[in-house]
Amino acid sequence: MNAMDELTLVQPDDWHVHLRDEDALAMTVPAAAQSFGRSVVMPNLVPPITKLDQARSYYQRIIKHRPVGSDWQPLMVLYLTDKTTPEDILEAKDSGLICGCKYYPAGATTNSDSGVTNLRGLDDVFAAMQDVGLVLQLHGEVTDDAVDIFDREAEFIERYLIDIAEQFPQLKIILEHVTTEQGINFVRSRSANVAATITPQHLLYNRNDMLVGGMRPHLFCLPILKRDHHQRALIDAAISGDKQFFLGTDSAPHARHAKEAECCSAGCFSHHAPLELYAEVFERENALQHLEAFASLNGPEFYQLPLNTKRVTLKREEWTLPATINYGDEELVPLAAGEALRWRCLPAG
Ligand code: NCD
Ligand code: ZN
Ligand code: ZN
Repeated sequence: MNAMDELTLVQPDDWHVHLRDEDALAMTVPAAAQSFGRSVVMPNLVPPITKLDQARSYYQRIIKHRPVGSDWQPLMVLYLTDKTTPEDILEAKDSGLICGCKYYPAGATTNSDSGVTNLRGLDDVFAAMQDVGLVLQLHGEVTDDAVDIFDREAEFIERYLIDIAEQFPQLKIILEHVTTEQGINFVRSRSANVAATITPQHLLYNRNDMLVGGMRPHLFCLPILKRDHHQRALIDAAISGDKQFFLGTDSAPHARHAKEAECCSAGCFSHHAPLELYAEVFERENALQHLEAFASLNGPEFYQLPLNTKRVTLKREEWTLPATINYGDEELVPLAAGEALRWRCLPAG
């Protein structure tokens, strides 16, 4: 088989995923372990994972579902609230279990009701995170009713993020699931301790795909898909191979009935074919040579973790994504359901 038909990479990691809890873990954990060496597990459960002991027991529940023989590792995250203290941060760091702390503005997204109401009240927490080297993972949107939903990320950067990065210049910050040109430009304006994760849906689609000709609830996620020039900026950042941009699927399962509803839940499930979905974008852009940096190298470097020692192979092979996936007693409609893909991933070895 010639080189154009096969691509071997250091095994990738997923730096942003929602595994949910209980019955859902039976599907989400094997799916994560199938494609990735490590996964950063978002803490937006109900109730959220705000304390170390909750993260420990969530870790145990997750690990029970890891397939036999797999060495996939969940990397745990604490959910910041107005009550998080610098002591929580020190304890989290000492445990060796926690890789970062997630900032959700209260009310911004799925299960964010306990999120932070006053970001600037967390300065002593950010100072502690900067001291010990814990990563600040941001859902970077304002929730101000007066701000249009399409402007909420750009407004967050202007209102808060520029100042936080200036005030805590050594703090490791990730603008999670970046969706705008302003987000990309902000990251590029900072040094290597500021980065962004990029999802497959924000690379593959823009808001026209979601809204023209009828509304497609399975493309609704937060931050919401933006217009095409933002999509273009995200693609350019991802395919550049630049160290500040790396893979975070934000795979976020919701049962079909919760998406096809009067009030559609936010989130797209992409763990049925995560690498294949990214490979589709890189192939279109003639940039497959940078997929490994984006998927496998830049994230570990940012988090100061070793590269995975396994390799994965992508083969050129037309196949069709499933229309639905079982999710506990229910089903969900995955990203790009029923569409054809050009690359297929073989299990890691
Ligand atoms: C995520 C979820 O469902 O938990 N939803 C989403 O639209 N991205 C939450 C999040 O990452 O904001
Ligand atoms: Zn988010
Ligand atoms: Zn998320």
